[in-house]
Amino acid sequence: MAFCSMFSCVKSSDRKKQGKKETTWRIFSLKELQLATNNFNYDNKLGEGAFGSVYWGQLWDGSQIAVKRLKSWSDKAEVEFSVEVEVLARVRHKNLLTLRGYCAEGQERLIVYDYMANLSLLSHLHGQHSAECQLDWNRRMKIAVGAAEGIAYLHHHATSHIIHRDIKASNVLLDGDFQAQVADFGFAKFIPDGATHVTTRVKGTFGYLAPEYAMLGKASESCDVYSFGVLLLEIASGKKPLEKLNSRLDGKYVEEELKRLVFVGLVCAHNRPEKRPTMLEVVELLKGDREKIATLENDEMFKTILATDSGAEDSPDFVSEEKEQKDEIENA
Ligand SMILES: Nc1ncnc2c1ncn2[C@@H]1O[C@H](COP(=O)(O)OP(=O)(O)OP(=O)(O)O)[C@@H](O)[C@H]1O
Ligand SMILES: [Mg+2]
Repeated sequence: MAFCSMFSCVKSSDRKKQGKKETTWRIFSLKELQLATNNFNYDNKLGEGAFGSVYWGQLWDGSQIAVKRLKSWSDKAEVEFSVEVEVLARVRHKNLLTLRGYCAEGQERLIVYDYMANLSLLSHLHGQHSAECQLDWNRRMKIAVGAAEGIAYLHHHATSHIIHRDIKASNVLLDGDFQAQVADFGFAKFIPDGATHVTTRVKGTFGYLAPEYAMLGKASESCDVYSFGVLLLEIASGKKPLEKLNSRLDGKYVEEELKRLVFVGLVCAHNRPEKRPTMLEVVELLKGDREKIATLENDEMFKTILATDSGAEDSPDFVSEEKEQKDEIENA
């Protein structure tokens, strides 16, 4: 089986790095997954994305799983499946969703993950759990730092540096303790050593796309930084990137941390990629490294961002001019 060779890429030295968790993956039979999910029963459905549906399941040993069943077999689905499995098999970090295994029988393509009891950040900010107001300020900060650490690991510590290309609220899952786990690696790209970026067809989600990526297809770590910046602003404001909604924090937040989150979000979402911090710097900034924050605050760059961003609403929507790319993004 071709996928087995991918898994041999997991280096044991990787597991020794900080923040890693030990897990094992295996190949599941279709029968086992049908049993676990009550034959992909509608009642077991956790959600649906562009590439398929996700079902809750329970294995014979009592452990809970989430099974992503790819919609219909196609070349695109096959690529998405193998990229996701390959990337997830290579990475192990407390803030990256753990791969439990996969199943490739006939035309069925299924990916098995740890079940995340609190679903996604999206479901708490804007979806089925939003009315419960479970995301107090502490949890928001913890999620912001955790997700930043997961992405920083992909960019800086994974054996081949990896860019995610689809950082957004629905791809940040939350476990039982509201710990963030970054998910969905179907669009991920490996960055070859020494390369600053790769040129590729644009994938991702409107509202989170860095301008140079949406317009020119230039994908690099800093595109993820941009998307993460938008996500930070979403966490702080409770508003969707392209919608106007009120925050449910109801005035209950730590002012200094809120300022920090917004500030880091703005710096990450700078129009010019070279002005964005690295994810390692983002982690330090979010954790409140006073010296680094003071340096950035006094930097001419930040004043420029504020001036530039205040006129952002007047500027045309750059993505809408790229009809072909827009269609592709919408399809995705
Ligand atoms: N491991 C998991 N544990 C619990 N819920 C999950 C898990 N994986 C996915 N989900 C739920 O299933 C939903 C659908 O996930 P999926 O990744 O297929 O689509 P999406 O992220 O909503 O959209 P897109 O296709 O644009 O990525 C998620 O939003 C989440 O609520
Ligand atoms: Mg997703």
